Amino acid sequence: MPASPLSAESSAPDTSGLVIEAGVNLKPYNTFGLPAVAQRLVRIREAADVRRVVDHPELGRAPKFVLGGGSNLVLTRDVDAVVLKVEIQGIRLLETREDAWIVEAGAGVAWHDLVCWTLDHGYPGLENMALIPGTVGAAPVQNIGAYGIEVKDRLEAVEVMDLITGRPALLPADVCRFGYRDSVFKHSDFGGLAGKSVITRVRFRLPRPWQPVLGYLEIERKMAETGITQPDARQIFDWIVAVRRAKLPDPKVIGNAGSFFKNPVVSAEQCKDIIGRDPGIVHYPMPDGSVKLAAGWMIDACGWKGKTVGGAAVYDKQALVLVNKADARGAEVVTLARAIQESVYGRFGIRLEPEPVVL
Ligand code: EPU
Repeated sequence: MPASPLSAESSAPDTSGLVIEAGVNLKPYNTFGLPAVAQRLVRIREAADVRRVVDHPELGRAPKFVLGGGSNLVLTRDVDAVVLKVEIQGIRLLETREDAWIVEAGAGVAWHDLVCWTLDHGYPGLENMALIPGTVGAAPVQNIGAYGIEVKDRLEAVEVMDLITGRPALLPADVCRFGYRDSVFKHSDFGGLAGKSVITRVRFRLPRPWQPVLGYLEIERKMAETGITQPDARQIFDWIVAVRRAKLPDPKVIGNAGSFFKNPVVSAEQCKDIIGRDPGIVHYPMPDGSVKLAAGWMIDACGWKGKTVGGAAVYDKQALVLVNKADARGAEVVTLARAIQESVYGRFGIRLEPEPVVL
């Protein structure tokens, strides 16, 4: 993995500042609001805390689980691994280049707060990704995206701390192997970094001059409704916030982890076959000739909106989102998800892949 060392962070071991909490209820720390207990939890408030964990006589060798905003997580059991809860704060303009502003944010900053900060300070470019739940550190892990932009399109570099050596490294965007809701941070094999490193800070590249990213159906609809043909970044932000509020549940009100399944990508032939049987299927041709299918449409077509398993339910305004309707347990969410997968496979011959990590 090509990476340049960050000398300032590799200071001497120091275990004195660590607070190890025992028996911590994780319900407030996952957006699904699922119950689970962390046997041991350590708050990472600065990158050096990771080094302190690595050098700690007991924690150093123990398995670890990195928790960001808990927005992409289904907890089905208590967690034996040491939970590292990343709470690193801070946002700053790092550099003004001729062609971009470089903004750096701590991994524990709430994603939407970063979007607001960049707009308030005159560095637009993240507005299409407004209101995505989770933290800055979780954003590159699954390459979050919405309304025509993915985080990879705005990413300069990711600062990580190695969980074996306790050393920092700066990973440029091109080594992060970004794909659709995918990155090097999601995999543990083939040189992947899952479970091997902690993202501490993220650097964003916001191109100058700013160009709006339009063309997405719902933005075009807003342009037609309002007659605004050249929206500024703030206008796009307002539209995206309105669109998301109308169809996605607010995790503060009703627990959820965003889209529960990825939109599957199939070959043109396979898509033709499905269209033959289901002419209404929503699909998007991809530049490489493959076709992305709308999983939400397929789940909806199988009649799942509003259906429940225990306290878990399919959201009634967007079938791609599973919600915690009433004190759901992780096992109920998983049972519901499996039933949906079977039903979609039965009708369309497509295996849906979950987006969140199931623990
Ligand atoms: N649809 C239905 N019924 C439903 C849900 C969707 O018919 O119950 C149809 C919609 O009418 C639309 C199509 O399916 O024609 C696609 O739905 P939508 O535009 O809502 O987008 P999506 O494919 O469901 C994706 C991302 C979202 C992102 C939006 C906007 C994934 C898995 N999801 O959703 O990301 O906000 O596009 O860009 O790629 C997330 O990943 O957590 C997430 C919310």
